[in-house]
Amino acid sequence: MPFSVTTPIYYVNSDPHLGHAYTTVAADVLARHHRQRGEDVFFLTGTDEHGAKVARAAEEAGLTPKEFCDRVSARFRDLVAKLNATNDYFIRTTDPEHEARVQDFLVRLRDAGHLYEDTYAGLYCTGCEQFYAEGDLEQPGNICPLHKTPVEWLEEENTFFRLSAFTGPLLELYDRDPEYVVPRTRYNEARSQIEAGLNDLSVSRASVSWGVPLPWKPEQTIYVWVDALLNYHTALEYGTGTDVSATFWPSTHLLGKDILRLHCVLWPALLVAAGYEPPRKLFVHGYLTSGDQKMSKSLGNVIDPLQVIADLGADALRFYVLREVQFGQDGSVTRDGLDRRYEGELANDLGNLVSRTTAMIARYRDGRVPEGETALEPVHERVAERIDALDLTGALEEIWTLVRAANRYVEDAAPWALARSDDPADAEKLDTALYTLADAVRALGVLLHGYIPEASERILAAVGDPGATGWERAGLGLTVAGTAVEQPPPLFPRLAAAGA
Ligand code: MSP
Repeated sequence: MPFSVTTPIYYVNSDPHLGHAYTTVAADVLARHHRQRGEDVFFLTGTDEHGAKVARAAEEAGLTPKEFCDRVSARFRDLVAKLNATNDYFIRTTDPEHEARVQDFLVRLRDAGHLYEDTYAGLYCTGCEQFYAEGDLEQPGNICPLHKTPVEWLEEENTFFRLSAFTGPLLELYDRDPEYVVPRTRYNEARSQIEAGLNDLSVSRASVSWGVPLPWKPEQTIYVWVDALLNYHTALEYGTGTDVSATFWPSTHLLGKDILRLHCVLWPALLVAAGYEPPRKLFVHGYLTSGDQKMSKSLGNVIDPLQVIADLGADALRFYVLREVQFGQDGSVTRDGLDRRYEGELANDLGNLVSRTTAMIARYRDGRVPEGETALEPVHERVAERIDALDLTGALEEIWTLVRAANRYVEDAAPWALARSDDPADAEKLDTALYTLADAVRALGVLLHGYIPEASERILAAVGDPGATGWERAGLGLTVAGTAVEQPPPLFPRLAAAGA
């Protein structure tokens, strides 16, 4: 079955930080895993470029909105490449192909009778270009909490989407699949928002000029969230030059908990209204925090992913964010914590295992894997189960049980002692030990391909199975005796040696 996965498209009003790298890494782990299983995969990411926030950031930078978007979008694209993400397309909402399709979609909604004109009235802050509820303002005097200036009463004629009419269809969707939104707490949260009743939504803006014009009233622009959500479908239609939406839609969306309502309520409603299939599944992850706060540019507590990659490599970053924080929950990340896991788990647990195994085979068996049967238990079935449940942290822990089991096995089997013995029974035991280790290392190369692709590639090359990442090779006992093995340079050089 084809598999299609997306990240949210990132706002270009500020530079990427580790929180943005997080969703991209998670989506890439899924994309790589499904490719390993031989499935057709489409992995989409990109940038969200319209709206008042971006226009204001451009103005502050002294650039036109488009120039500004070009500049910042390129930084996100560069990060995606440096993370070794294997996205099939990088969408920008300023792509003319996207803009045209957003307009078509609105026409479709209108023709289906789901839009109407009405007056939007409320308290408006021109600094924020946003309407506020009275309760969110500082009193007395209705003061904008951000700008500390009084808001004004504003009325504009807008186009509204009859979201309220979709309560029933949405509840049906949720009832049909209790795992429609994962984890369960997020499913409950989204479902209760729907049950509480939905208000119609203004989908055009008279006050925002940096956006896609409403086709039948071009002095208004389409609400930036409608424009943004549509990326998930439009990209499939034009991203690769052929329309692959029939193959790859519906997609699985990964998103942070701050944008749950827009994805789990508005987005399926828009799709159903326009006659499309709703998303396949939505996974809502938590925040990477620093101290107790969400890592964010405005709080100034960000870890720069490019710096981490320059110091330790993309594998270290990818491994750390999925290992440290249970995927789906919030969790604190620090540079120190990252260095500790790099040393303790990547360099010691995994790096040493690979280097000891290959060194011993070179030394005791002339660099060829001896005949033998594995003495370890495979983990690939449990790993695949966890990944299917989108439990990327649980899957990695399952893989690590094999790393730990192999390390315990080296200590228990003590091949160095067996190698000193003249007893032929020990020579056979040594064969078994070396086979078991070479084979475990090979399987780890396959199992870890999604998480740490650079190390995986080097591991598989070292044990004579270069490029053999297919999931059918993830079990144990599949190594062919006689395979030539070579000791690689350290997979994860020590921090001091890495210059960090
Ligand atoms: N542009 C919208 C998404 C539109 S999708 C149709 C947006 N962009 S964003 O750049 O602000 O956020 C993109 C994603 O990054 C969101 O899923 C958000 O939750 C995630 N993260 C931003 N900071 C984060 C952390 N500190 N931790 C984890 N994820 C975080 O929202």
